[in-house]
Amino acid sequence: MKLLVVGGGAREHALVWKLASSPLVEELYAAPGNPGMAALADCVPIRADAIVELADFAESLRIDLTVVGPELPLVLGIRDEFERRNLLLVGPSRRAAEVEGSKAFTKLLCQKYGIPTATGEVVASRQQAERAVQQLGLPVVLKADGLAAGKGVLVCRTAEELEEALVRFFDQREFAAAGERVVVEECLAGEEVSFLVLTDGRSVWPLPAARDYKRLKDGDEGPNTGGMGAFSPAPLPREVASQILTHVIYPALQALAQEGRPYQGILYAGLMLTPEGPKLLEFNCRLGDPETQVVLPRLDGDLVPVLLQAARGELASPGVSVIRQAAACVVVASRGYPQASETGDPISGIEEAQELGALVFHAGTAVRDGRVVTAGGRVLSLVGTGPTLREAVELAYRAVSRVAFAGMQFRRDVGRGFY
Ligand SMILES: Nc1ncnc2c1ncn2[C@@H]1O[C@H](COP(=O)(O)OP(=O)(O)O)[C@@H](O)[C@H]1O
Ligand SMILES: [Mg+2]
Repeated sequence: MKLLVVGGGAREHALVWKLASSPLVEELYAAPGNPGMAALADCVPIRADAIVELADFAESLRIDLTVVGPELPLVLGIRDEFERRNLLLVGPSRRAAEVEGSKAFTKLLCQKYGIPTATGEVVASRQQAERAVQQLGLPVVLKADGLAAGKGVLVCRTAEELEEALVRFFDQREFAAAGERVVVEECLAGEEVSFLVLTDGRSVWPLPAARDYKRLKDGDEGPNTGGMGAFSPAPLPREVASQILTHVIYPALQALAQEGRPYQGILYAGLMLTPEGPKLLEFNCRLGDPETQVVLPRLDGDLVPVLLQAARGELASPGVSVIRQAAACVVVASRGYPQASETGDPISGIEEAQELGALVFHAGTAVRDGRVVTAGGRVLSLVGTGPTLREAVELAYRAVSRVAFAGMQFRRDVGRGFY
């Protein structure tokens, strides 16, 4: 079979790595891919959001299955473009991907179908927002409706923070089209969990639980980032998992089907575990990055048949099982990340890290004059696996100690307190 992976980050490198191990795969392509994948896949220089070009490419090579990493192509309708040409792709249609593409859509869907979520309102002006905040009281959360690369959510604890948020949303129009509508919602307290399933719209196959680290600095300090680390398994009691499935995942899939937006692909629920039960904070329409880097190494067996089943709408019994080993991922980022990022700095120690037994997934890297150099904010995902979480974390950090480039930043507390 011929497979195509869309995207060029460490999540997609992990996907390529996993898919390359399938005996069913004869040819593997990545668009645009990255230098780390080049040994496993043919990287074709097509951007992940160029959905028509991607479909042209897949059609001309007769790609049997396409797997999409990032949300943007899905929100833009890559599934629809591929379906029109009878090309198989795992991922939701444009209208189903609105669960991530529009936080207002999801809020209204939850309200209509009784899916537990933070009490809130969709507003379109400063005046409406102020009225909603008066009802909800402080603290309150303001969220840009559209895609905002993880920067569109402002938690306001004080009147000053609220005023600043209102200015950014409605006076400065910082989020442009993505901020034309804003969700104003109550601030929930509790432990946050992510819950991911692969689904064909009816059957679901829950992925192993992972925990990620969103803030730049140890102890969850510093600015929000795309994600600085992750580990799996994460503690998630069986009853909680079953509550999430019963009250959030299945009702959402049914609701979407009823709305004429059948959902197929990965559905990622971000939830707060409150005293009243799990409540939805958001849906994403794809795998998480860096969660994928710790989940895929824990899956035993071939992922390809399961992805094919999901794409065809006939997900049966799981074809892969979770192995007992643990995995931990530490992201190393360039100087200045997440505001800006320095590029072009030579990276050393990648092979040494691999020789230790760690997995090295590339994200912001490039090859210049035969050397691997930094080319973006999050540079590499260093993943350790082992029979216990402690061993996985220790291996990941031994790998980190081998790798070096100017201004390298990373968290030192991934997995800490969980073993
Ligand atoms: N209602 C809420 N109450 C408390 N914290 C929230 C709430 N909504 C979001 N957050 C916090 O903000 C983060 C980002 O919000 P989220 O809805 O996941 O949007 P995105 O991932 O698109 O930025 C969450 O991970 C959570 O920590
Ligand atoms: Mg989120």
